[in-house]
Amino acid sequence: MPQQKAVRRIGVLTGGGDCPGLNAVIRAVVKTAIREYRLSVVGFENGFGGLIQNRARELTEKDVVGILPRGGTILGTTNRDNPFYYPMVINGEKVFRDVSDRAMENINIHAIDALIIIGGDGSLSIAKEFYERKGLPVVGVPKTIDNDLSATDQTFGFDTALNTATEAIDKLHTTAESHHRVMVLEVMGRYAGWIALEAGLAGGADIILIPEIPYRIERVIDKVSERRDGGKKFSIVVIAEGAKPLGGEMVVRRRVEDSFDPIRLGGIGNIVAQQIEEGTGMESRSTVLGHLQRGGIPTAFDRILATRYGTGAVNLVMAGEFGKMVCLRTPYIDSVPLAEAVGEQRLVPPDGDMVCTARQVGISFGD
Ligand code: F6P
Repeated sequence: MPQQKAVRRIGVLTGGGDCPGLNAVIRAVVKTAIREYRLSVVGFENGFGGLIQNRARELTEKDVVGILPRGGTILGTTNRDNPFYYPMVINGEKVFRDVSDRAMENINIHAIDALIIIGGDGSLSIAKEFYERKGLPVVGVPKTIDNDLSATDQTFGFDTALNTATEAIDKLHTTAESHHRVMVLEVMGRYAGWIALEAGLAGGADIILIPEIPYRIERVIDKVSERRDGGKKFSIVVIAEGAKPLGGEMVVRRRVEDSFDPIRLGGIGNIVAQQIEEGTGMESRSTVLGHLQRGGIPTAFDRILATRYGTGAVNLVMAGEFGKMVCLRTPYIDSVPLAEAVGEQRLVPPDGDMVCTARQVGISFGD
């Protein structure tokens, strides 16, 4: 376990996919560190890449002026560059090497006493490795629009993505109704159906398809046909990118080999729209919301949560509670060992309260 010493200077980095609220966390880290504890702060650029390649800069209060509502991350990020499995070309051949010692040298060059890592499952797994194998005092902050980390009630970024998806459903509703069409909206979420479920509920979808409840396309077609026969000449289907038919597989759009999680899902919305058109004879269109869900200004909820996480992370550092991640245990900010925070995904319980509520208002899950 890491030796505890007085903390004077901390590092911060953002890893994995970007997410609304990252800047709000950085701002809270910098402000709390400087104002409350008189620390200095160093930001590493582009996730773990900056740690390996020694791309770092001092962060002062001036650097965080005006960034609270700004999407993205002023530090840059990447879901590649795992220091324990880093790609390089040797003798014309691509190989993966452990360059974590190089990262540790850069930590020492900058005299960093503790590192705050803001990221999802992949980045936090790397944080855990640094803590356990290299003795680096780390604290994690849970980020992801997917809301799929089991150890916290909510990750920051999810609320903004949810609102973006809900707004998209509202817009699709008006055009679906006008043209008497079926509109299928594919949303992100990786292996979890939270964005689809909650946006579908908020936007009044007729059908919600999520990875946790494999669907039968006949049931989806039945629901659309029933609505049409009952006089409703349009339907809204919200589908998670990870949704799959019973006995079938998720649709993989591409593989990004150097990434923490190489699989990129996507394309199921198109397939389902086509099947609905064939099965009902109704014109069906699909929209892939894509990275719009990750961009833009964070909601008030995410700004507040991100600020509480940032401040909470510095408080953990100063309490010497390393190898932990800040988390939300409503209504409090708490902490959990990184070992518990990573590995277990938070999936939608198929018989949970939210799914039951959706069913009771007539939403079909295609099962
Ligand atoms: O984890 C966040 C997320 O946006 C997922 O919802 C999505 O599957 C994935 O990242 C997309 O990753 P990329 O930006 O690399 O395509």
